[in-house]
Amino acid sequence: MPGLLLRFMKFAQYVALIWSAFGYDDLPASKFPIGTPKSDAVDHVNPMIGNGGDSPNGSGGMIPSTAPPFAMTRWVAQTRENYVSVTPYNQTDDKIHGFQGTHQPAIWMGESGTVIVAPGVGTVTPSFEDRGIPFSHEEEVATASYYSVKLRPDSGGMVFAEHASTSRVGHLRFTFEDVSEPHVIVQASRNTVVSNNVSRIAVNIGDIQISPEEQEISGRNPERQDDILGPFTANHFAGYFVARFNAPFVSWGTATNDTLHENELNRTDQQVMGYVRFPENTTQVDVRVGVSFISIEQARANLDNEIPDGTSLEETAYNTRKAWADKLDLIQLEGATDDQKTIFYTGFFHTLQYPNEQDEDGRYYSGYDDQIATHVDSLIAEAMIKGVTGFDTDVAYAGVYKDATVYVFLCVENLTTANAPSRPPVNDTTTQYYDRQEGVGVEARAGLTLYAQKGFVGADQHSEAGSRTLDYSFDDFAVSVVARQTGHGDVADFLLARSKNYQKIFNNDTGFMEARFSNGSFAGEDVGWTEGDKWAYTFDVMHDVPGLIELKGGNASFVEFLDEHFDGGHNDQTNEPSHHIPYLYALAGAPDKGQTRIRSIAAIDYNATIDGLAGNEDCGQMSAWWLFSSIGFYPVNPSSTLYVVGSPFFDKVTMKFPGNGKTLVLTATGAATKPYIRSLTLNGQSITEPLLSHEQIINGGELVFEMSEKPELWGSNSASVAHSEL
Ligand SMILES: *[C@@H]1O[C@H](CO)[C@@H](O)[C@H](O)[C@H]1NC(C)=O
Ligand SMILES: *[C@@H]1O[C@H](CO)[C@@H](O)[C@H](O)[C@H]1NC(C)=O
Ligand SMILES: *[C@@H]1O[C@H](CO)[C@@H](O)[C@H](O)[C@H]1NC(C)=O
Ligand SMILES: *[C@@H]1O[C@H](CO)[C@@H](O)[C@H](O)[C@H]1NC(C)=O
Ligand SMILES: *[C@@H]1O[C@H](CO)[C@@H](O)[C@H](O)[C@H]1NC(C)=O
Ligand SMILES: *[C@@H]1O[C@H](CO)[C@@H](O)[C@H](O)[C@H]1NC(C)=O
Ligand SMILES: *[C@@H]1O[C@H](CO)[C@@H](O)[C@H](O)[C@H]1NC(C)=O
Ligand SMILES: *[C@@H]1O[C@H](CO)[C@@H](O)[C@H](O)[C@H]1NC(C)=O
Ligand SMILES: *[C@@H]1O[C@H](CO)[C@@H](O)[C@H](O)[C@H]1NC(C)=O
Ligand SMILES: *[C@@H]1O[C@H](CO)[C@@H](O)[C@H](O)[C@H]1NC(C)=O
Ligand SMILES: *[C@@H]1O[C@H](CO)[C@@H](O)[C@H](O)[C@H]1NC(C)=O
Ligand SMILES: *[C@@H]1O[C@H](CO)[C@@H](O)[C@H](O)[C@H]1NC(C)=O
Repeated sequence: MPGLLLRFMKFAQYVALIWSAFGYDDLPASKFPIGTPKSDAVDHVNPMIGNGGDSPNGSGGMIPSTAPPFAMTRWVAQTRENYVSVTPYNQTDDKIHGFQGTHQPAIWMGESGTVIVAPGVGTVTPSFEDRGIPFSHEEEVATASYYSVKLRPDSGGMVFAEHASTSRVGHLRFTFEDVSEPHVIVQASRNTVVSNNVSRIAVNIGDIQISPEEQEISGRNPERQDDILGPFTANHFAGYFVARFNAPFVSWGTATNDTLHENELNRTDQQVMGYVRFPENTTQVDVRVGVSFISIEQARANLDNEIPDGTSLEETAYNTRKAWADKLDLIQLEGATDDQKTIFYTGFFHTLQYPNEQDEDGRYYSGYDDQIATHVDSLIAEAMIKGVTGFDTDVAYAGVYKDATVYVFLCVENLTTANAPSRPPVNDTTTQYYDRQEGVGVEARAGLTLYAQKGFVGADQHSEAGSRTLDYSFDDFAVSVVARQTGHGDVADFLLARSKNYQKIFNNDTGFMEARFSNGSFAGEDVGWTEGDKWAYTFDVMHDVPGLIELKGGNASFVEFLDEHFDGGHNDQTNEPSHHIPYLYALAGAPDKGQTRIRSIAAIDYNATIDGLAGNEDCGQMSAWWLFSSIGFYPVNPSSTLYVVGSPFFDKVTMKFPGNGKTLVLTATGAATKPYIRSLTLNGQSITEPLLSHEQIINGGELVFEMSEKPELWGSNSASVAHSEL
C-alpha cells in the first residue's frame, strides 16, 4: 500500500518537477492543473491519508476531496453511498459512481443537501449501482486542489474525469475517448440510511429542472441525515444547485433511481435525477456546479461569482492550489524527513477543512432556527482572549448569553446565587440523551437540571453522565472567560466557581473520577463515559490542572499516576479525551517525562501511509495534536492564553502570522535525535518554565531550544503553573 500511495503522490510532484525543469514554474494558470503555483508544502499533502483502516473506528475517516480551505462544499469521487460512519470514498472499492459535492467533512457527521454529477456512456443507467464505472488507483491523481481519474467503462473507451473547486462551486471536466452516447447525470435526492440504524431509511423528495437553452440542470435536495434528531425538524433545510454545461444537449430526461422519464424537463420525486446527452462528436464537457443552502438563484449567483463563464478548469485548479499555498506556506520546516513533511502538511490540510464557510453574499441558512439569518461570526472564548478581531464581541456575548439563558445556565437576576434556577432543555430530567437519540432536539447542557442543583449530571437520569459533568465544568470556565472579556464580571465569577464542579465526581476512595446517581451515590467506575474510561476522564480537567493535581495528592503522586496511565496501556491517542494527557507531566514538574511520551505517541500513532491516522480525524483533531506537538507546544486549556511546552521535532520551524505580519523562528538543532530540552530562550531572554503565552508566540522573533539526548531538569520548577488557569 505505501508503494501505491507513493505513486499517486509522486506523479503530481514528478510532473511539477518536469515543468519546473523547463522553466515553467508558476506557469500561467491555463497551462497545467497541478504543480503551480510552486509550493513544497502543498506538494506534501496526501489527501489519501486517513482513508485506510479496516473499521470506521480504526481509521482517520478522511476522504480525498478537493476544495479550498474552509470550503462550504468539498468535491469527492464517490465509490459508495455515504452515511454516518461511512465515507463516500473508500479506497477498497473499484468503481466510481459520480462526483459528490459533499457537506460531510468527517466520518461521524451525517451528510446533507448534496449534489452528485456522474458521467456516463451508452445507454443511460442512472441508479447508483448501475452507473458505477471501474477505475484503478494507478490512474488516479489526488492532490489538495485537483483530482483526476481515468474511468474505464466495461463497453470500452475511457472517460477522463477531473475536478477542482472553489468554496461554493465545483468545477468538473469529462473527456470522452472512444465511447458513444456521452452523457452526464445530475442527482438531486436519494433515499438514505439515517443514523447508523440500517433499518431506518429516509425518503427525500427533491426537485430537478433541465434547461436546454441555458445548458443548465438545477435542483434542490432536502436530505439531512440527522433528521432523526428533533422534535425540531428544520423543514426548510435543503441544498440547492445549478450545474452549467459548456456543451449543448441533444436529448434529456429525468430519472427516479433506474426509471427513465425521457424528454421530461422537470420532476419532483424521490431519488430524482436529470440526465443530458451530448452530440456524438463531443469529446469534452466542462461543468460548473454552484451550490447554496439558500436558493437556486443564490446557487447561480455563487456560480457566477466564483467561477464565471470562460474560466478554465486549469484556472480553478490554480486558484484552489494557491488558496492552499497561501495557508500551508505560512509554516516552513527544516530538518523534517519527507514522511514527516507529508504528515505535517496533510495534517495542516485536514485541520483547515473546518469549520466550513456558511455565508453566501453575507447571508446564511441556520439549521438552529430553520431560517436565513444575517451574518454573525461564530464565537469562541479562545478567539477573544487570543486577540482575534473582526467580529462584534457584544453580538458574540449575546449569542453565548442566549445559549446561557435559554439552554445553558441561569436567569440573569439569579446568576450570583448558588441555588439559582436554571433553564435546561425541555423534558431534561426524563430524557436519557443517548448517542443520536431520536426525537431529541438541541441538547446543549443536557442534564443541566441536576448539574445546576448538585454540581453533577445524574447517571440514573442520563447517558454519559460522568463525561457530561466534566464537560460542563470546563464549559462553565470557557463561558466565564467570555463573560469576563465582555464586562459581565458577576456572571464570570459565578461560572468560574461552578467550573470547580469536576471535584464533585472525584471519588476519594478510588482516586478516579466516577459518575454519580442523582441520590449522590457513586455509580461505578465503568458508567457514564463517552468513548473513554475512568483513566482518560480522570485527567479531563484542562482548566484547573493544579486543582486536579491536588486531588491526586500532589505532584509526585500525580506523576506516578501518569506513569501508571501510560505504562499500563491506558492512554488512547486514537480519540480526543487523551490528547492533552502527556502535556500534564510538565504541569506537575516533570516535563522530561512528557517529552518521552510525546515523541513515542507521534511515532506510533501517525505515519505517511493511507492508514496513517490511528483514530478518527474528526474535525482535524488527530492532526492538530501532531502539528502542535511537532512544533513544540500544545494548548492544554484552549480557553486560556497559555501553551504547554513539549518537545519540538525539527531543527527549525518558521511561522509567519498573517494577522500582524510577524515571524517566529524556532530552532531546535539536533531535535531528531534529542527529544529533551536543556534550555529555552525567546529573543535572548531565558524562559525557565514550560509555558509560552499566545502573545509571546505571535509577537515573533527567535525561539531557541537547546536540545539534549538525555532527560534534563529544565522546566521542572515552574512557579507560574500553580497560579495559572491550567
Ligand atoms: C472500507 O471498506 C471496507 C470494505 O467494505 C471496510 O472494511 C472498511 O471498514 C471501510 N473503511 C472505512 C473507513 O469505512
Ligand atoms: C466504533 O465507535 C462507535 C462510536 O463511538 C461505537 O458505537 C462502536 O461501538 C465502535 N465500534 C467498534 C468496533 O469499536
Ligand atoms: C432503529 O429503527 C427502528 C425502526 O425505526 C427502531 O425500531 C429501532 O428502535 C431503532 N434502533 C435504534 C438503536 O435506534
Ligand atoms: C434502484 O435501482 C437498482 C437498479 O435497478 C435496484 O437494484 C434498486 O433496488 C433500486 N432501488 C430502489 C430503492 O428502488
Ligand atoms: C416543467 O416543465 C414544463 C414543460 O415540460 C414547463 O412548462 C414548466 O414550466 C416546468 N416547470 C418548472 C418549475 O421548471
Ligand atoms: C458536432 O456535431 C454537431 C451536430 O450534432 C454539429 O452541429 C457540430 O458542428 C459538430 N461539431 C464538431 C466540432 O464537429
Ligand atoms: C430567581 O429566583 C427566584 C427564587 O428562586 C425565583 O422566584 C425567580 O423566578 C427567579 N427569576 C427568574 C427570572 O427565573
Ligand atoms: C416532552 O415530553 C412530552 C411527554 O413525553 C412530549 O409529549 C413532548 O413532545 C416533549 N416535548 C419536547 C419538546 O420534546
Ligand atoms: C473528597 O474529600 C474531600 C476532602 O476530604 C472532600 O472535601 C470532598 O467532598 C470529597 N469528595 C467527595 C466527592 O466525596
Ligand atoms: C442511589 O440510587 C441508585 C440508582 O438508582 C441505587 O442503586 C442506590 O441504591 C441508591 N443509593 C442510596 C444510598 O439510596
Ligand atoms: C508542582 O509542580 C508545579 C510545576 O512545576 C509547580 O508549579 C508547583 O508549585 C508544584 N507543587 C508543589 C506542591 O510543589
Ligand atoms: C501506520 O499507522 C497505522 C495506524 O496506527 C498502522 O496500522 C500501520 O501499521 C502503520 N504503517 C506503517 C508503515 O508504519
